[in-house]
Amino acid sequence: MNAIALSCTDIRVDFDGFTAVDGVDLTLRRGEVHFLIGPNGAGKTTLVDAVTGLVKYTGSVVKDGRELRGKKVHHIARAGVGRTFQTAAVFENLTVAQNLDIAAGAARSPWTLLRRRTSLPAAVADTMERIGLAERAGAAAGTLAHGQKQWLEIGMLLVGDADVLLLDEPIAGMGQAERETTGRLLHDIAAERAVAVVEHDMDFMRANASRVTVLHGGAVLAAGSVDEVSADPKVQEVYLGAAEREEAVDAAAA
Ligand SMILES: Nc1ncnc2c1ncn2[C@@H]1O[C@H](COP(=O)(O)OP(=O)(O)OP(=O)(O)O)[C@@H](O)[C@H]1O
Ligand SMILES: [Mg+2]
Repeated sequence: MNAIALSCTDIRVDFDGFTAVDGVDLTLRRGEVHFLIGPNGAGKTTLVDAVTGLVKYTGSVVKDGRELRGKKVHHIARAGVGRTFQTAAVFENLTVAQNLDIAAGAARSPWTLLRRRTSLPAAVADTMERIGLAERAGAAAGTLAHGQKQWLEIGMLLVGDADVLLLDEPIAGMGQAERETTGRLLHDIAAERAVAVVEHDMDFMRANASRVTVLHGGAVLAAGSVDEVSADPKVQEVYLGAAEREEAVDAAAA
């Protein structure tokens, strides 16, 4: 069994009496690409928001023996828990290299950041190779294709030394070739870190998941390998049920 990177226990998020996350346990391990799936509104993003300190919760999130609940967003990031958003958040007017340099610089002094440097730090150059953007180093991030922005955002987590990466729908809007590249990138990253991926695309999940947790109505409906969760009648009910309802709506509209 791979080493535990993050342990979440009994996570609960309430929004004015509405329970969006309802007692979720989740263990992320190094060496694994762990998929979080579930219908719209299942609580996937809210769970990521809780772990990264954006919303209040009860329960416990432990990394390297340290409790992260109650810590500020930047402390959690500095503790090595990084996340991406459903819409990529990069500095559009800065270049690819500058975006990565800033993310790497979160750990450096302002003086180092301000000093004019003739060459990029090795970590930035290595990461650009890794995320496939070395040839776009000098391009403004705003000019990147949608998929490339997601890779840049992942690269920013890597140079910032995150060793737990929580990615919210990283392949939304990507074409098939970009999806395959992303799948390879996730496994490459997971070789030494823990990766959790929130995703709706079941083909991408089947192709890339080491482990799957299915959320439904804020709670864990099922967890295990791809085969285990696919064979689970409760999971089939949620997914087939949704597909059948859509068909019924389409039929009624025709
Ligand atoms: N700030 C908020 N205030 C009140 N309710 C919220 C808030 N954020 C999310 N919710 C509700 O919590 C539930 C879970 O939302 P969440 O965004 O976590 O779902 P999700 O699984 O990420 O869905 P999707 O797949 O559509 O992204 C939804 O019912 C949503 O409307
Ligand atoms: Mg979401």
